[in-house]
Parts: sequence; structure tokens; C-alpha cells
Amino acid sequence: MLPNEKSSPMQKTKSVAQFFNDITDTFLDLYQSQYINFGYWENSIYDVAEAQEALVKKFGDFSLLKKDLDLIDLGFGTGEQDLFYYRQYQCKSILGLNISEHQIALANKKLEMSPKLKQVIKFCYGDATKLNEVQSDPVDRILALESAQLFPNKKAFLKGSWDKLKKGGYLCLAEPIFNHADVFNPEHYISIKKEIPSTLRRSNYFNSLLHEQLLFFLEKEQQDQSSKEQNSIFYRDYLNLFEMQGFKVDAVEDISKQVLPFYEVFKRPVLERIKNINNEETYFLIYWLAIIYFRYGSFLQGHAGYYLIRLKKE
Ligand SMILES: C[S@@+](CC[C@H](N)C(=O)[O-])C[C@H]1O[C@@H](n2cnc3c(N)ncnc32)[C@H](O)[C@@H]1O
Repeated sequence: MLPNEKSSPMQKTKSVAQFFNDITDTFLDLYQSQYINFGYWENSIYDVAEAQEALVKKFGDFSLLKKDLDLIDLGFGTGEQDLFYYRQYQCKSILGLNISEHQIALANKKLEMSPKLKQVIKFCYGDATKLNEVQSDPVDRILALESAQLFPNKKAFLKGSWDKLKKGGYLCLAEPIFNHADVFNPEHYISIKKEIPSTLRRSNYFNSLLHEQLLFFLEKEQQDQSSKEQNSIFYRDYLNLFEMQGFKVDAVEDISKQVLPFYEVFKRPVLERIKNINNEETYFLIYWLAIIYFRYGSFLQGHAGYYLIRLKKE
């Protein structure tokens, strides 16, 4: 379940963790990848894993990563991005924090065979909105690659990040941000319902069940979406919060054109799998499809942008 309207920030964090515990394996398997981001779809890239690593590289460069930096990485997925940061930029230390126990276990497995990696990288449980509870010396960079859109309490996240950064350090974000509230318009939901693919039309009993399930999840997604209306932060308000916390906005790059086309590519393997399905995996696939259709599909309709943001603690 994803956060709903009446839940507290703590309940929301729990349900986000549950979501990633549940869906991570299906996701990695569907896309044959170790990342859980939308990807950076440049020129001739057609492969999901390749596009996702291109986004990690784009974000690493944007975050001015280089040799000998200390990092905190918030929401590290399966930890693959931190292995990449280490290999690509030779960072000195990386503390990865995540609320999904399953992802933390996957990430720690990747360190098992390498004493060198273990010296540099630590993957632990940690909530990005409670950084004051985390023991660490001040760092040069705090990174949130496609994770901060899920942090319910932005002020606490920004304050905690400020306190954990060295003077002159940067907090760097890559995330989808709504530009205006139109995305919550019910008409949008109607148009997505119409788009339910023909593979799920009621041609036989099983397809009709799938069809019903998808409608059920879409309905739930719509409720989550209306709760997002209260929880989401719009671009201009986000900028105000950065400044209120004392950050200087050092750079912003709008990469919507390179990221948002992921939507069409992401649907395909899900639909292919559903055609041949005959087990309980259906639940996750349908759930994931509903999310792709509703939540992410909406980005393409011009209501949100995908931004890289670099904030400096001067
Ligand atoms: C969309 S995934 C992106 C994962 C990874 N950055 C990647 O690109 O593959 C979002 C990540 O944020 C984590 N996350 C969500 N809320 C969090 C929180 N409050 N504190 C720490 N991590 C969180 C999730 O568990 C997940 O790993």
C-alpha cells in the first residue's frame, strides 16, 4: 500500500518502505536492471538498465562528485549507484541510508565479497527525514537520486541535510516535481482508464479478472493522487523551502525531455508478462502497471518536470 490521505508522516514512511520491500524483486526482474529509477533516455539508448545507469552518471557529474569526497546517499535502491559512484569518482566514503529492509539486504550482499568496498561503503537503515538520529561526521555531499519526492516531511529532510553537510558542501536532488495542481484533475484519471490496453479487455475470464484488478488499483492510485495534492510540493514552494533553510540554489537543470519518455518503455515488459501469467505474481505486476499508468503517465502530460537541483551550504 502507498501512503493515503489520513496517514501520519511515520505511517507514510512505513508504507513506502513496504512498497519497496514488496515490489523491488519484480521490478529488477522485469527490467533486468539493478536500478529503480526512470533512466536518462539519450540518443540511441533503448535499454532500461543502460538508461538508468546514464541517469546515475548524469546525476554524479551534476553533483560535482570527485576523488576523496565523503557522501551520504539517501534512498540508494539496491546500492548499485554507490558502487558506481565509488568506481567512477573514487569517493572516499559513502554512507547509504534507506528505509527498505529488503533493499538494504540486497545492497549489503554486494559488499560481501569485497573488503575494499566494505571499507568505503556502508549501507544502513536510516530515514532521510530523521537525519539527526544518524551518527556521522559532516560530509561533502548529500545525494537523493529519485528518492526525495517520497520524503513526507521536506522541512525535516532539508534541516537534517543542512546539519550533516560541511560548510561549502552540496545537497543534490534528482526528482520529478509537479509544476502545478492540474495533475490532480479527475479528467486525467478518465483518460488513463481509457488507455487500459486491449490485452486486458474482457475477452476471457482471466483477462476480465486482470481488467478488474487494474481498475481497482487505478482507483486506489486516484485516492493516493488526491492525497498527494496535500502532500506534494510544487516547484516554486520547494525553492522557497530551500532558501528558508539557508541553502543557495547553485544549479538547476530540467531534464524532463530525457527522462519522461521512460513511461512508454516501462509499460512494455509489464504487458508482455501479463499475457503469459498464471500465478500470484499478477498482484505486483498489476499494481506496478497501475502506478506506471496513473502516477508516472501523468508526468508526460505536461504537469510535472524532472529536475536536477544542486544546493550549496555556504
Ligand atoms: C525510486 S527508488 C530510487 C532508488 C535508487 N536511487 C535508484 O535510482 O535506483 C526510491 C528510493 O528511496 C528510498 N526511500 C524512500 N523514502 C525514504 C526515506 N524516508 N528515507 C530513506 N530512503 C527512502 C526507497 O526505499 C528507495 O530506495
